[in-house]
Amino acid sequence: MRIGIPREPAEGQKLVSATPDTVGKLIKLGYEVIVEAGAGSDASYPDQLYRDAGAEVVGPQEVWQADIVTTLDTPPQDKIDQLREGTVLISRLGVRIHPEIAEVFAKRNVTAISMDAVPRITRAQAMDVLSSMANIAGYRAVIEAANAFGRLFTGQVTAAGKMPPAKVYVIGAGVAGLAAIGTANSMGAIVQATDVRAAAAEQVESMGAEFVEIPAPAQESSDGYAKEMNEDQAKAALKLYTEQAAASDIVITTAQIPGRPAPLLLTAEAVGGMKPGSVIVDMAGGNCELTKAGEVVVTDNGVTIIGFTDLANRLPGQASQLYGQNIVNLMKLMTPEKDGTIVFNLEDEVVRAITIAHEKDVLWPPPP
Ligand code: NAI
Repeated sequence: MRIGIPREPAEGQKLVSATPDTVGKLIKLGYEVIVEAGAGSDASYPDQLYRDAGAEVVGPQEVWQADIVTTLDTPPQDKIDQLREGTVLISRLGVRIHPEIAEVFAKRNVTAISMDAVPRITRAQAMDVLSSMANIAGYRAVIEAANAFGRLFTGQVTAAGKMPPAKVYVIGAGVAGLAAIGTANSMGAIVQATDVRAAAAEQVESMGAEFVEIPAPAQESSDGYAKEMNEDQAKAALKLYTEQAAASDIVITTAQIPGRPAPLLLTAEAVGGMKPGSVIVDMAGGNCELTKAGEVVVTDNGVTIIGFTDLANRLPGQASQLYGQNIVNLMKLMTPEKDGTIVFNLEDEVVRAITIAHEKDVLWPPPP
């Protein structure tokens, strides 16, 4: 079968769903790969590198005609219209937020695989694009913070005087938060972190940070995600975050509960209590009352609030490699004979969870 790698249609999307390295791995699984000219140019992968890896570089029409097409996000309608009947589309289809998308593909007889619906179980981790992108984004959040911060992260004693290390506080120690903790720690900052899940404490400490507990932490639900806090817990958390923010130089917020709007953790008052020159990176967008999505704002008291929503897009070479590898890992699972033929074993929990339309049937949501 032929796998098509289009140039991403969305304006500003710098990632590409396969790199020369992952193309080589797909070919080893028995597939032919066609790549649209210029598909990897924004991620520093010129066409020639794809050719060297064994792919054929094709025009914008042909690529959408492949047996399997992989993209970053749901393609626009005119591209969906170009897919042949029976094509397999592998992408972040956002099916949790837009369940109706499954119907669109079922009607067109396109098999749709939603990479962002991978269950959070150990076996599926190698295919979890949300985790791999959050990891990259957590790293970049620290780089953005360091860029906006007018001081060093690491402490130093020099002939010109002593410089204290920066204090970084991370709220939400999931994938993005842990990556941010590791990065800030490696840059020499003193790092503290809080999560509503008590189980996060061990992970925070293993990354070299101090865990700051919320009085009366909430329970973790069976799917590994946090549950919402009750009113008393929420009040205690807000007070803690306000105090911690005032004592920190950098605050990185990643708090999110799936299917809910991002919880408010830093009020305007809490920001008002922070030192001039402090930096907030609101990764979840909405954890801080003063965040403007996609923008950088500087408050009257000199606090920089970074609201970038495209942090992974700011590391396109690396993010594309991880995304492409997630797809390779999926294809390994779905190509048991390594013969370039994709097999839909819907008895497999992971395959079932992410296949949202197949042979004209809507398969979303998967059985619990
Ligand atoms: P995750 O689910 O692994 O982590 C979220 C963590 O927040 C969980 O550990 C949860 O227990 C914790 N949490 C929830 N409510 C909390 C509260 N009130 N106080 C403290 N902790 C709380 O999610 P992941 O993958 O780490 O992503 C985090 C956020 O970053 C998401 O909103 C995601 O959409 C966003 N993100 C943003 C990017 C950007 O470019 N800005 C790129 C990638 C992800």
